[in-house]
Amino acid sequence: MQTGSIHKVKTDLNGSMLIMNRREFVQSSAAAVAAVKSVSLASAEERSSLPVVISSRNGIRATEKAMEILKQGGDTLDAVIEGVNIVELDPDDRSVGYGGIPNEEGTVQLDASVMHGPTRGAGAVSCLEGIKTPSKVAKLVMERTDHVLLTGAGALKFALSMGFKYENLLTDSSRETWLKWKKDLNSQDNWINPQDRIPTALISRAGQDIRDAVEMHGTINCNAVNEKGEISGVTTTSGLPFKIPGRVGDSPIIGAGLYVDNEVGACGSTGRGEANLKTCASFMAVEFMKQGLSPEEAAIRVMKRIIENTTEPYLLDSKGKIKFNLNFYALNKKGEYAGVCLYKGGSYAIHNGRENRIEESAYLLEKTD
Ligand code: GLY
Repeated sequence: MQTGSIHKVKTDLNGSMLIMNRREFVQSSAAAVAAVKSVSLASAEERSSLPVVISSRNGIRATEKAMEILKQGGDTLDAVIEGVNIVELDPDDRSVGYGGIPNEEGTVQLDASVMHGPTRGAGAVSCLEGIKTPSKVAKLVMERTDHVLLTGAGALKFALSMGFKYENLLTDSSRETWLKWKKDLNSQDNWINPQDRIPTALISRAGQDIRDAVEMHGTINCNAVNEKGEISGVTTTSGLPFKIPGRVGDSPIIGAGLYVDNEVGACGSTGRGEANLKTCASFMAVEFMKQGLSPEEAAIRVMKRIIENTTEPYLLDSKGKIKFNLNFYALNKKGEYAGVCLYKGGSYAIHNGRENRIEESAYLLEKTD
């Protein structure tokens, strides 16, 4: 693959389009940081006070709940877990917990991880079936075992032994989405679209709702720092829609979809998990913060590394632009925070102790065509 001849498109600080080849793009570290579009309207003071809770956009109720718990003096990990439990239990959020989009066989398999800064604790579960709140199971892995990650049948046995109830996680809506996906999978198969009553081979390929579902790498990440500077985080997801059974994303992998260092900060992610798995992305962001970068600068550096490491032809369009999206949510011990995404249009939930709101993420690229 001739990466040197592939062109990338991005914007400068004034929003002007810059065209550069792929090698220039990935090698010009300083230039890329300078080209990042920071879109926050918050003042510097607002962006560096304690306590702070940050989450992916679907976590606006999570940040509200977590801040309420912090203000009552609750533990940072309890706060973020109670926050994300709202989303895990919501059948209408189809990227997390109950109601999540299933794997290719129609089974919902969940991944989650937690990190508790004050005790340096970590716990995670992957490919967990039948339990609506995998984040709570991950916390018990941390508290009740000498292990960090339990998976599949073992994770389920552990959850049941801890008193969790096995439930069907597939809602009617997610099952319908899965059936539509199945119908559009192979133009030669015998599945029929119930609306059309026409064999798949005779109708158009996947509708927009299916494409949206396939491209949707939903997930929720939520991180908090309290007034004492104690930091915790959680990431929980139903993972990639229609994934191969057994696929594990970044969310339950400590350092990929979540990392917390109580002396420094936290970072978590949503989006294409495979990109984070290959780069230990969240760990790298926290390490960059440890070297003195702000949360925004750190997350941008990691995003650049991901661009650099994305060379698979099927992940790049004809102009060399990455086809997937990725989001980071980072904060540090001082309460500085940032949401950073690859493509323009991302946003995140932030509670700064006074106000709970959605802010636009900084970004590196624009979808111009
Ligand atoms: N980031 C969620 C996943 O890829 O599973």
